[in-house]
Amino acid sequence: MIIDIVTVVPGLLEGPFSHSILQRAQTKGIVEIRVHNLREYGNGKHKNVDDYQYGGGSGMVMMIEPFVNCLEHLQKDTNYDEVIFLTPDGETLKQSMANELSLKGNLLMLCGHYKGIDQRIREHFVTKEISIGDYVLSGGELAAAVLVDSIVRLIPGVLSDETSALSDSFQDGLLSPPVYTRPADFRGLKVPEILIGGNTPEVEKWRFEQAIARTKERRPDLL
Ligand code: ADE
Repeated sequence: MIIDIVTVVPGLLEGPFSHSILQRAQTKGIVEIRVHNLREYGNGKHKNVDDYQYGGGSGMVMMIEPFVNCLEHLQKDTNYDEVIFLTPDGETLKQSMANELSLKGNLLMLCGHYKGIDQRIREHFVTKEISIGDYVLSGGELAAAVLVDSIVRLIPGVLSDETSALSDSFQDGLLSPPVYTRPADFRGLKVPEILIGGNTPEVEKWRFEQAIARTKERRPDLL
């Protein structure tokens, strides 16, 4: 899978993809994440990417031309299954959406800034608009990083133990049960006895019950 991310602040995306699971996924050749500076496709000597909005009002709007120049350049050798715009008024990201996107071929993500992007980009070039939650970030970059992480970890071969993504919270519509590791007794704080006995069916039953209880208490809307 190729994931191309178009932004006016590429520096914001230098960190998230160069560590841990996302870095390993790239080293293994499972995914290629490329960050493109929209300014390189900007107009004129100053490589402008934004302008005042028609009709007046404060705030600059990202122009259509630099984006289309960039998209056409990238499309010369990459086909995209989805062109995603990160925006607070998009469809809210859910695990089911990450699952669906992890099955796609290549993705292009566009990060907005300033007051917004020219509506014609959204209507004619974007195929999916995604929000990562009901709050407003300064731009789409951090949202793109969240989206990429949620997708890439689901691609087979990325996690060393494939089942661990399947047992994530939300994958079965439930929150995950609590987990423990050594020591079994830390200053009197004990690990539940049932986890220590080695009775796998009993452990599985306990985990399921805990997942139900946690979901009932914290996210009853999921049940
Ligand atoms: N850009 C700004 N806020 C955002 C959000 N909540 N989700 C996606 N993109 C955004």
